[in-house]
Amino acid sequence: MQTDDINPPPPPAPFRPDARDPMNFDDRVKLMISCEEIQERVHALGGELTARYQGKDLVIIGILNGTLLFMADLIRCMPMDLTLDFVGVSSYGSGMASGKLNWTKPLTSSLADRHVLVVEDILETGQTLDAVVKEVRSHSPASLSVCVLLNKNVPRKYPVRADYTGFEIGNEFVVGYGLDLDGQYRNLPFIGVFNPSDGAAVGTEASQVPMDGLIRIHLQFWSHFKDLTGTDKAELEIRENSTIAELAGIVYSTWSQLADHRHCALIAVGNNYALETDILKDGDTVSFFPPVQGG
Ligand code: IMP
Ligand code: MG
Repeated sequence: MQTDDINPPPPPAPFRPDARDPMNFDDRVKLMISCEEIQERVHALGGELTARYQGKDLVIIGILNGTLLFMADLIRCMPMDLTLDFVGVSSYGSGMASGKLNWTKPLTSSLADRHVLVVEDILETGQTLDAVVKEVRSHSPASLSVCVLLNKNVPRKYPVRADYTGFEIGNEFVVGYGLDLDGQYRNLPFIGVFNPSDGAAVGTEASQVPMDGLIRIHLQFWSHFKDLTGTDKAELEIRENSTIAELAGIVYSTWSQLADHRHCALIAVGNNYALETDILKDGDTVSFFPPVQGG
């Protein structure tokens, strides 16, 4: 048996348990990128990265939790010496998020004079990667590059770009292959668009009675959000026991013009500000506010 063979291995066979078949898993998740497409692209990325870093002292830093699956597949397509580290940073809230980053795990590796590749699941506003890149730079690495699985085609708010990209996608909320909505869906082996249109009907007819298993939510958009959506009131039918985070995901994909503001929006149920884990009930009135300056 040859032990010095450094050719990239063939792509691993796609993993597709029937229970996670995109066609029958969840009617709110529509297949966007299949297991096969992911494996093929990750394999190509692994080849490019191996060619670039072969023979160098490489540390790959994954941003938790979303990169779990991507990292696991990517490094298995890199037949070379490398080490791993992880940082824990989360920025994505339900719309309640202030936009402040929450650091849950610091870097533990020494990075000085080493080659660093930061791996992230998805680049949206750039806030998360910008913060991680700044932190890594402060450790004086020999080089620093960024690899993202998905690059969301939205205006960047932070000056950060990916050197390696798996797939370019539009302004849609995606789940699966590590990406979550309120902690769910990370274990899907494919990437899907979270599409509320099958699980939630948008309407303005207050008289309609919701179908079994659905609850009706009254939405109110305030201030600048009213201008962006073109309305101050709307209604949605969503699944019972949905959380604020799930509702926010639906609202931002239905009124995508609000999506850029999700990090700073405030959400209230009735007169009380809501937590992303709060469970909604039939007839709740949920308000979305832009940040207020001054006051
Ligand atoms: P950024 O900091 O605005 O660039 O957003 C990046 C972070 O937000 C990623 O680490 C993801 O955790 C999360 N995120 C952004 N867009 C999506 C999405 O469509 N689905 C799931 N998570 C997302
Ligand atoms: Mg993330």
